[in-house]
Amino acid sequence: MADIKVTLAAERNTPPSEDVLGFGKIFTDHMFVMDYITGQGWHNPRIVPYGEVPLYPSAMVLHYGQAIFEGIKAFRTIDNRVAIYRPVDHLNRLNRSAEILCIPKLDVELLHKGLNQLIDIDRQWVPAPLGTSLYIRPFVIAADPYIGVKVADHYTYFVILSPVGAYYASGFKPVKIKVEQYYARTVKGGLGEAKTPGNYAASLKASEEAKKEGFTQVLWLDAVEKKYVEEVGTMNIFFKIDDELITPELNGSILAGITRRSVIEAARDWGMKVTERRIAIEEIYAAHSQGRLREVFGSGTAAVISPVGELSWQGKKIIINNNQTGETSQKLFDYITGIQQGRVDDKFGWIHE
Ligand code: COI
Repeated sequence: MADIKVTLAAERNTPPSEDVLGFGKIFTDHMFVMDYITGQGWHNPRIVPYGEVPLYPSAMVLHYGQAIFEGIKAFRTIDNRVAIYRPVDHLNRLNRSAEILCIPKLDVELLHKGLNQLIDIDRQWVPAPLGTSLYIRPFVIAADPYIGVKVADHYTYFVILSPVGAYYASGFKPVKIKVEQYYARTVKGGLGEAKTPGNYAASLKASEEAKKEGFTQVLWLDAVEKKYVEEVGTMNIFFKIDDELITPELNGSILAGITRRSVIEAARDWGMKVTERRIAIEEIYAAHSQGRLREVFGSGTAAVISPVGELSWQGKKIIINNNQTGETSQKLFDYITGIQQGRVDDKFGWIHE
């Protein structure tokens, strides 16, 4: 495996206090960088001071968006260890995104080693208070100075680190969601399964309009029939109908969330019935009118679990669980964050120290 060259920053910044963290606006002292050139493969893995990077205005990523990313979290446990949550699963998903975007595959073992070394160097930046973490953002961009449309020959892989507080300023409270009937995030055969910037760009207009109408986010339906539920905002979605948890099956246009997987594994382990299947928005509304829709929540790395208190579909509003956080949402949130913080036994081996 290639050696990782380390150049330390001449001066270290002081990590900020917990109350100014917010999400994703403060960065640590170092970053990981690695290059790719066709013929040479991935090479020159290095840790360097965090800072601006040279990039031609003609760099292909700026024009055609050939890029992928991940979002991973590291936590300071209650006994002061640093724990990374499911890093190998995230790095494997980066490679799945690479495949979809025609980006050359990366060596997960080297990426994992680089992640550990980088976090070790900046470990004083991992915040301790409940709800805080170190958000890890690995990403790959196409760097060729060329504005023809093709698969690039030069790429750069980066990892930057950001100490973060809670993702939603409003905290762990049920949110109001608009069921999006017009815009689409992606379509089967598109890039939906990849974590790629274009999917997030595609979500902005709908989300801005929803916010203007007083909603927190949108619930995405399939792009063809506008009938089946796909995701909520940037998260996967779960419905508790009677005692069963239902989440849309991975159909090529839905991101295979790592927290989604944790929810499924944990709930099944508790003896709950968990089903991955196509589910129509009509079915959700029908279950609600029969008094069987007990909870709705999103799952994602950033917010972990985000309860939904209200859905609005073509002007028809339904209130879920009295607009209160449901029992299963709360139990999953406590369980997953408990494992992340070392307060709960990590029986699934999700944590890498
Ligand atoms: C998540 O982890 O829920 C996300 O995808 C949000 C992230 C892009 C900031």
